[in-house]
Amino acid sequence: MSFDLVFFGGTGDLTWRKLMPALFQAFRHGKLPEGGRILAVARDEQSDERYREWLKERFREVDEGKRPSDEEFQRFAGLIHYRRMDLSQPDHYQGLKDWLDARNADTVVLYLATSPHLFTGICQQLGAVGLNHDKVRVVLEKPLGHDLASAQEINRTVRSVFHERQAFRIDHYLGKPSVQNLMALRFGNALFEPLWRRESIANIQITLAEQLGVGTRGAFYDGTGALRDMIQNHALQLLTMIAMEPPASNDADAIRDEKLKVLRALKPFTRESVGRDVVRGQYRAGMCGGHPVPGYLEEVKVPPDSHCETFVALRTEVENWRWAGVPFYLRTGKRLTARDAQIVVNFRPVPHQIFPGASVPNRLVIKLQPEDGLELQLLAQKGSGHGEQLTPVTLDLDFDKAFATQRVGAYERLLLEAIAGRLNLFVRSDEQEQAWRWVEPILDAWAEDGNGPRPYAAGSWGPAAASALVARDGFSWAEEQ
Ligand code: BG6
Repeated sequence: MSFDLVFFGGTGDLTWRKLMPALFQAFRHGKLPEGGRILAVARDEQSDERYREWLKERFREVDEGKRPSDEEFQRFAGLIHYRRMDLSQPDHYQGLKDWLDARNADTVVLYLATSPHLFTGICQQLGAVGLNHDKVRVVLEKPLGHDLASAQEINRTVRSVFHERQAFRIDHYLGKPSVQNLMALRFGNALFEPLWRRESIANIQITLAEQLGVGTRGAFYDGTGALRDMIQNHALQLLTMIAMEPPASNDADAIRDEKLKVLRALKPFTRESVGRDVVRGQYRAGMCGGHPVPGYLEEVKVPPDSHCETFVALRTEVENWRWAGVPFYLRTGKRLTARDAQIVVNFRPVPHQIFPGASVPNRLVIKLQPEDGLELQLLAQKGSGHGEQLTPVTLDLDFDKAFATQRVGAYERLLLEAIAGRLNLFVRSDEQEQAWRWVEPILDAWAEDGNGPRPYAAGSWGPAAASALVARDGFSWAEEQ
């Protein structure tokens, strides 16, 4: 199957930091279909050769194990081409179409790795020259919109040019092997499903914690904040996978229909409930990962009086028969104690305790990163004699060890899926819009609230109010247990 993969934004950060290295991994592992061409388009005038040299330099900044040798780069570079394009010029799109038509590959993937404000313009121009025919797929990078209205605007344009089955909206968390494994855990095993409901589960906690600060992305991040950057997409996608009903098949739409139902069942926020159930924070200077680090307001290109949140914790519920009354706590933040993405499922205590001492309920920890694994906390007796208290013990499964194979990275997987035309790991427009609909009252309430985010020290687990949010229901975050 021949393919042409075009990166708009060919000299941008995303292309050289994530996309090209991911493609190189696919190439190295022999997973890239034969007969592929990769075309980077950008504003600068330069030859294929010059672009390849530039890219080779950039690869020096990629993690060592993922860096090509000279010989490998030479072979990989054979697939790469460069084309100058001014994205506001209609005839430049015609030139691109002619270049692609001359080869007439089986599949054409157009990856918009540009600033999102260019998406609608690019899509319209692609449509105008007929680069929306059946063999074309368009990949849209996040952030897709800034709020519901802007997301709808982008989707309207995309839909006016492309069919929904041609639109691949990226949420890179869906490409992570550990996230894919959630589907296998729930729907490939009979063990958990009968317990996966309000009768057995007390609460669910989703944590996406980062140690990094905003780094050099201050200008972008300050107009975005943690709610838009991590909750509206990554955290909500995880929630849908945890809470969804079993889909009838593994088809993209069967899965996406079930995810959409979860998003629609999320308890809507009101002005009062935002005040009560959502905590926003902003990091101050502190020690993180053993080093002193500056506060958010001291970061490059961040206004000194910014109210942008770098931390969010919230409590919500999925209002349906399976989950009524079960709190779902979502939490994300930068400059927290550790890089740690996990989902904790806290089960209810046994209905009647026959052993002495306090009972510790069972807990399933689904570890997404840095490790990819499962921990099941059980209670057992050590065997010291009658009247002994129960002791918590952990069944610990490390997928990297269990499989002992190199697992495919998120962008590598997503690029291969887009080339193959499989939509399972991409977000449908109605899911994305429903997620915006749900977060919007939080954005509105914050815009009216002059108090701004609560400060927290870099290297901590966020503002104390985040602990209080969970404690109010008689629970605590996993690291406090
Ligand atoms: C991105 C956010 O979508 O996800 C970043 O824009 C964040 O701010 C990143 O750092 C986290 O991704 P990962 O894969 O490192 O957990």
